[in-house]
Amino acid sequence: MTDDKSPILRLNSVCKTYELKGQQAVQALQNVNLAVYPGECLGIVGQSGSGKSSLAKCVTQLEHVNSGEIWYRQQEITRLRGEKLRRMRKQIQMVFQEPSMIFNPRMKIGMFICEPLLNYKLMKGPQAVQETRKLLERVGLSASDADKYPHELSGGQQQRAVIARAIGVRPEIIIFDEATSALDVSIQQQILDLLMELRRETAVSSIFISHDLAVVQQVSDRIAVMHQGKVVEVLDSARLSSSANHSYTRSLMSSALSLRKLKDEMQKRERVVVLAESI
Ligand SMILES: Nc1ncnc2c1ncn2[C@@H]1O[C@H](COP(=O)(O)OP(=O)(O)OP(=O)(O)O)[C@@H](O)[C@H]1O
Ligand SMILES: [Mg+2]
Repeated sequence: MTDDKSPILRLNSVCKTYELKGQQAVQALQNVNLAVYPGECLGIVGQSGSGKSSLAKCVTQLEHVNSGEIWYRQQEITRLRGEKLRRMRKQIQMVFQEPSMIFNPRMKIGMFICEPLLNYKLMKGPQAVQETRKLLERVGLSASDADKYPHELSGGQQQRAVIARAIGVRPEIIIFDEATSALDVSIQQQILDLLMELRRETAVSSIFISHDLAVVQQVSDRIAVMHQGKVVEVLDSARLSSSANHSYTRSLMSSALSLRKLKDEMQKRERVVVLAESI
């Protein structure tokens, strides 16, 4: 995947510091160098506070870097404004952990998905409505869900609607920041399956952020391991256990193993409960 292709996204020596009044500044990103290649899913893993969301926010300019450069194809996007920023945000979509934060509670799901199609002038009204129905079905919802309000959907269904909105504008990169972390184990797996299907179909590039190494490994081609604002290593997902060098990666791997066992146990128990309820 990484051979003779140029990266679609590149971070060169990116630093991000949060200045806090009366407190010590936090160095959230320290000299981060990363590349994402066309069609690739780059996983980012690291414990809470390691800088994963800061990285995503700097790429999408929800936060501004203190130094370093961010490149999207041949364009430097470190500090964009106005129309250029708007256009970049169409190409680089973001899906967050808590879908409920993104919805306008008074806006129906159909309009929520349709809105960027109209705002970016990708299509006119009737065509956008048609496309919205297709998008809803594509992410495993039904066309009639367009008429529902966000609170009428479950957490998993809400996240599907957010993904429908993100893929609707045909972005080149989607950043998933803990996009499945708030969901039950079985719903989480359904959303991961959907993401992997979308990847196969659309060849969209993605950054998949999670503190859960097992989840990241499932969807990513390569994995960048973050620790205290630094990328400590970037590894091939398929050869993770044989290629991890850094002691922090090894400790993540052993805790992922015990977490996996716990999840398997929980899934077994869920199945037993369902079985018991059906008797
Ligand atoms: N807006 C902010 N103002 C001040 N400090 C911040 C801000 N956002 C993040 N930080 C700090 O920067 C560091 C990195 O935070 P970040 O949210 O990027 O971590 P993370 O890896 O995404 O963590 P989590 O897994 O909990 O989401 C942390 O020490 C955090 O407290
Ligand atoms: Mg975060």
